[in-house]
Amino acid sequence: MKRLNSQLQDDGAPLELILLIRTLLAGCKEISFRVSQGALAGVLGSTLSENVQGETQKKLDVISNQILKDILIDSGYVKALSSEEEDDVVPCNPDGKYLVSFDPLDGSSNTDINSLIGTIFSITHAPQWMDPDDPSAFLQPGTQIVAAGYVLYGPSAMLAMTTGKGTHLYTLDKTHGGFLLTKPNIQVPQDTNEYAINASNQRHWEENMQEYVGDLLAGTDGPRGKDFNMRWVAAMVGDIHRVLCRGGVFLYPKDARDPDKDGKLRLLYEANPMAFLIEQAGGLASTGKKRIMEVMPTDIHQRIPVLIGSKNEIETCLEYYQK
Ligand code: F6P
Repeated sequence: MKRLNSQLQDDGAPLELILLIRTLLAGCKEISFRVSQGALAGVLGSTLSENVQGETQKKLDVISNQILKDILIDSGYVKALSSEEEDDVVPCNPDGKYLVSFDPLDGSSNTDINSLIGTIFSITHAPQWMDPDDPSAFLQPGTQIVAAGYVLYGPSAMLAMTTGKGTHLYTLDKTHGGFLLTKPNIQVPQDTNEYAINASNQRHWEENMQEYVGDLLAGTDGPRGKDFNMRWVAAMVGDIHRVLCRGGVFLYPKDARDPDKDGKLRLLYEANPMAFLIEQAGGLASTGKKRIMEVMPTDIHQRIPVLIGSKNEIETCLEYYQK
């Protein structure tokens, strides 16, 4: 089976980017081990602290963040990093060529129930003019990303990654520690009858989303004329993995709970990398108003609405936004 390294070379990734990706993934393998040890290593449960988003940090959030931070700072390839678990950007090597943004452990509330979690990352070039502690260099639209992906810590540890030459799935072979290519050029089916949304927020959604989901729920009795199935992992990484593998749409729309927040999911290290992966697999990713990857970030922890998945179904959903 083909190894990650040779797929990256075939996709034309420059050597330094390949080395950076391998370094990042070495950190993910360490996280995968820690996650799998669970209660045996005393890593489950919460800390007493909150992150900048006001969310209680899980012990594994803090451990995963530290692992990635240490390995990236040490590598020399990175000028600065931004993380869900860091209030500000973290300066690394002033001569580093890349910027890395990551969510070290997405869906971390699932740690306590031994369910799906993962690491999401994206990499862009570091502008030469930037100081390593300057957050403005991170404010690049998703179209500037040179590599993005996630590692899903599930029954097997899987990597989904793109450098802009298709999205490939790899499985971690724990016998020798390498990611092996198990699904090259994955394609999201264009049509689907499956959707993912946290329906408990329904009363807070905007009218267009109320109407769209209402029509999905009406099934064969409604205007869509077919039944739809619903799934919700409560970890974006798990839901997007399902969408990549068998199609579907993943929705976290804007809602009225907090007028200061434009959605729940973070643009830099959740929405953008997932949008890149899904687009490279033939799907669509929108905020409802525009392509996610064209949104110009205004803050490293900016939140945006997310509608991602099978091309034809996202287009149908967007028709409700155009009404
Ligand atoms: O960090 C965001 C996140 O955990 C996503 O991974 C997930 O899709 C979503 O929040 C779950 O949200 P909720 O708590 O509304 O189910």
